[in-house]
Amino acid sequence: MAGQNHIVEANPPMAMLAELTHRCPLACPYCSNPLQLKEQSDELSTEDWTRVFQEAAAIGVLHVHFSGGEPASRRDLVQLVKAAADVDLYTNLITSGVGLNEKRMADLVEAGLEHVQLSIQGTTAEEADYIAGYIGGHSRKMDVANWVRSHDLPLTINAVCHRHNIEALEQTIQLSVDLGAQRLEVATVQFHGWAEKNKQALMPTRQQDERARKTVVAARERLKGVLVIDYVPADYHATYPKACMGGWGRVGLNVDPTGRVLPCHAAESIDWLSFDNVREKTLADIWYKGEAFNAFRGFDWMEEPCRSCDRKSVDFGGCRCQAMAMTGNAGATDPVCSKSPMHARLLDQIAEPDDPAQMSPSLIYRGR
Ligand code: SF4
Ligand code: FES
Repeated sequence: MAGQNHIVEANPPMAMLAELTHRCPLACPYCSNPLQLKEQSDELSTEDWTRVFQEAAAIGVLHVHFSGGEPASRRDLVQLVKAAADVDLYTNLITSGVGLNEKRMADLVEAGLEHVQLSIQGTTAEEADYIAGYIGGHSRKMDVANWVRSHDLPLTINAVCHRHNIEALEQTIQLSVDLGAQRLEVATVQFHGWAEKNKQALMPTRQQDERARKTVVAARERLKGVLVIDYVPADYHATYPKACMGGWGRVGLNVDPTGRVLPCHAAESIDWLSFDNVREKTLADIWYKGEAFNAFRGFDWMEEPCRSCDRKSVDFGGCRCQAMAMTGNAGATDPVCSKSPMHARLLDQIAEPDDPAQMSPSLIYRGR
């Protein structure tokens, strides 16, 4: 049963998201960080993170994704990348680009950085800076992409997609090609945290989603061998949910800025879960024995209709945080699923019809 600290057998984790800080100069209205941001004074030290990377490598983690907030807000970012590279972790920097300069990028590459994932908020400075709530951000991103390319580092462009920018998908694809990216990830906003506050303004309509899918199919064909495009449509337009995080406690873990280890970035929205901290326990103990990681591992916690469903080993019942947000029960079937008794309520929240006049002009920006 969810909530009891029973232990379910698990494979080693493959990936770790290192949320180095919640500090960020941008204020995106769909930020996935919690509403209550962690203070700089509570952040793990360089030595703490170095130990965490060593423990991660020892239990089988292969990739570390440096994230935030904005990871470049950490002055010791170069040291942290080196610490991870020293234990043979594959290093990926997930950045807005703000806080980097040419010298710092060169130092990161020297320290062992292997991949950069650069977020863009739009295809023109005007649109992008409006969404990011930060003037000058877009032009810095263009510089960063050039520096990444000059070091021959693989570049992924990450474009969060929503009602305001989904119609510019073709331009987003072209910009990614122009910037020399090998991959474009277009993921529709996930409506947790700050995004939940902006759901009406940001939710793409079903017609927008259909047009975007067609654009992606055509571009994939046209850009074979040039750009790989991943498109993650809004959950709300799906028949079945995605296997959020590849299944709870199955593939990866998040370490937050203060050292708490979470099964996903939004897990603290499940208020009855308690999270262990790398300051007090080893990563191995937390991954294999921690209450939070075991809460939704395996299938015994599932309720109907998931429990008897033949898709349960495909999507693992969907997203626990979405189930919590929409039903108040983290063990319920994700309401995105058409078999969920709450599915009809979810459909009511989809903005229809395809009328731009319904687009709310006001956004609630992330606090700092
Ligand atoms: Fe997935 Fe549960 Fe829906 Fe089956 S009932 S498709 S396991 S979410
Ligand atoms: Fe937490 Fe999906 S975001 S399980």
